[in-house]
Amino acid sequence: MSVTAIIGAQWGDEGKGKIVDYYCNHFPQDMVIRSQGGPNAGHTIYLDNDISKKVTLRQIPSGIFAKKKLSIIGAGTVINPVTLVEEMNKLQGLGVDFNKNTLLISHRAHLIFPWHLQEDKKDNKIGTTGNGIGPCYASKAKRIGITIGEFFNNTNIIKDFDDINLASDNTASYVDALKILKDQYSQLIVDTHPIVTKYLKENKNITLEGAQGLMLDLDFGTYPYVTSSSTTTAGLLNGAGIPPKYLTKTIGVFKAYTTRVGAGPFPSEDLTSYGENLQTLGHEFGSVTGRKRRTGHLDLVQLKYASEICGFDELAIVKWDIIEKFDYMKIAYDYTSTNADQTPDQAIYQRFEDPKNNSSSILKYIEEKLSGPKITMLSYGPKRDDIKLL
Ligand code: IMO
Ligand code: MG
Repeated sequence: MSVTAIIGAQWGDEGKGKIVDYYCNHFPQDMVIRSQGGPNAGHTIYLDNDISKKVTLRQIPSGIFAKKKLSIIGAGTVINPVTLVEEMNKLQGLGVDFNKNTLLISHRAHLIFPWHLQEDKKDNKIGTTGNGIGPCYASKAKRIGITIGEFFNNTNIIKDFDDINLASDNTASYVDALKILKDQYSQLIVDTHPIVTKYLKENKNITLEGAQGLMLDLDFGTYPYVTSSSTTTAGLLNGAGIPPKYLTKTIGVFKAYTTRVGAGPFPSEDLTSYGENLQTLGHEFGSVTGRKRRTGHLDLVQLKYASEICGFDELAIVKWDIIEKFDYMKIAYDYTSTNADQTPDQAIYQRFEDPKNNSSSILKYIEEKLSGPKITMLSYGPKRDDIKLL
C-alpha cells in the first residue's frame, strides 16, 4: 500500500506530468488523483518516447497513459467543461477509452462558468492564466458556486441548458460541452469518496498529482502572486479526500534552474543573456498560455522552504540536459536582505563550473543544503524515458 504525493517545488511547470507518468510506469499505481487546480495546469508528456508526440494534459491526471489504473479528477478541483471535452477528444484520438474503470470525476468538483473567465480577464494584474480559476474558487468560498454533480443531478438547475443565462462570448461552445458531458459521460461523474476509500482499504497504490507549485500556493506562496488553490502535500490530501495517516511518500519536482510565468517576486531571476539562453535552450514558453517564462537560477532557499512546507522525502530534478549546455551554473544559497514587504530582493550564489562533468558534486551540494530529502530521479532529456533513477 502506498500513497505518493508528487508536487511542484517551484512556481509551476516543473515537469510534474513527466514524473507522474514515469512513476506510474515504473512503480505501478492503481489510482492517480488530480486534487486541486484546473485547466491552469499544463502537464506535458511525450508519448512512445517520441518527441513529436507531445500531449499536454490540463485536467486529466498524467497517469491516464499508464495501463490498468483509475484516474480521478478530485473534489478540490475546478473544471471547465469546454477544455475537458477538448482534452477527452484529443486523448480518445490517442487511444484512451473513457469509462468507469479509466476516469472518474468527483461530483464535488466545481464548474468554471463563462463569467468566471470574463472576470479573470478583466482585472489581471498578477498575470493569471486567464482560465477563471480565482473567480471560480471565489464563488466556491462564497458558497455560491455550482458543483458538477449538482449541475447534472438537479433538474431545476438544468431544466433546459439553453435557458441558462450564459451571456458571454463562448456561450455556444460552453453549452455544447455541457451537453456532451451529460449525454456521453454522466456515468463518470460520481461520488469518488467510496471508491478512494475502497482502494485505501484494499492496500492499493495511489499517486496524487499536484498542479502548479508550492510557491503558487494560496497560503504559503508569494501571495498575492499565487493561484487560488492549495498546492501543498496537505492540500493534495484534502482535495483527494485521503486522511494524512495514509501518506507514505512525498516527491518534490524541480528544474535545474527556476522559471516563473506571471508577475511576482523571483529572487534568483536572471535578466542577462544567461537567463535568455535558459529561456531559448529550455523552450521556456507556457504550455497553457504560450507566454514567455521568466528564467533564473536554482534557488535553494526557496526549495528548502518548499521542502519544509511539503515535507519532501525525495526529489526529482528535471531539465538537467539544459543546464549541461552551459559552461557554468549558479545556485542561490542565501539572500542579501528582505525589503519592506518581506520579499527577498537579491540572491547570493555559489558558482559551479562545467555542470556536465560535475553533476555528482552539484547534486550532492543541493542535497546537503536541503538537509533531508534525497534526489532519486534525474531527467536528462525531453523523452518519456529520459530519466535516471539515483
Ligand atoms: P502547472 O500545473 C505555471 C500561475 C500563473 C499566475 C498565477 C495565478 O502546469 O505547473 P491562475 O490562472 O492559477 O489564477 O494564475 O499562477 N500558474 C502557473 N504557472 N504552471 C502552472 O501550472 C500554473 N498555474 C497557474 O501564471 O502567475
Ligand atoms: Mg505547466
